[in-house]
Amino acid sequence: MSEFPLGRPARLAVFASGRGSNLAALLAAFPAGDPVGSVALVLSDKPGAEALERAARAGVEAACVPWTSRSAFERRARALLQARAIDLVCLAGFMRILSPGFTARYRGRILNVHPSLLPSFPGLHAQRQALAAGARESGCSVHFVDAGVDTGPVIAQRRVPVLPGDTEASLSARILAEEHLAYPEAVRQVLAGAARLPEGVA
Ligand code: GRF
Repeated sequence: MSEFPLGRPARLAVFASGRGSNLAALLAAFPAGDPVGSVALVLSDKPGAEALERAARAGVEAACVPWTSRSAFERRARALLQARAIDLVCLAGFMRILSPGFTARYRGRILNVHPSLLPSFPGLHAQRQALAAGARESGCSVHFVDAGVDTGPVIAQRRVPVLPGDTEASLSARILAEEHLAYPEAVRQVLAGAARLPEGVA
C-alpha cells in the first residue's frame, strides 16, 4: 500500500466516462517524466469516450472496460491498477458508483472532483441544484472517495459567484475552469503527504 510522500514519482490512473477536460488538466500537470508523478493509465467505462482519445494523443495507455456489471468492471479495473503499479486513482467525470469494497481497497488513494462546494449539492446535476436553490456562490470540490456519493473528506475547493442570468451551461463552464486548477493542486497535496484522510474515516 502506497504511503505519501512516496519518495519517487507517483503513477496516476484517471477514470473518466466522457469529455475528459479534467483528464486533460491532469495530463498537462503530470506529464511523462515529471518528478512528482505522471498519468500512467486512463480507464473509461464508455467505448468511444473522448477521454480515451485524449489519452492516446498524449501517448498514455487508454483502456476501455465496459460496465457490463459493477463486479466485472471492478475486477478488471483492479487487475489493471495492480499490473500498472498505480499509486493514486483520480475519478474525473467518471459517472459510475464504485462499490464500498473497491473504495476501501484504495482508501486515501482515490479522489474525485465534483462541481459544487460540498457538502452542498452532492450527486447528479450539482450546478442545476445550485441554481434551483438560489445559491449566490458555488464552485468545485476535490475530495477523497469513501463509500458514499460525494461524501468523502474535502481536500481543496475553489469558489465562483453565481451571476444574475446564469444558466446551467454558463455556471458549469465557470466552475469547470476552476476544476481544472483545483484537481492538479489537490493531487499535489496528496502526493506530498500534505492532505491525508483523517484517522478513523472509513
Ligand atoms: C465535471 O464537471 C466533473 O466535476 C463532473 O463531471 C464533469 C466532467 O467533465 N463530475 P470532464 O469529463 O472532466 O470534462
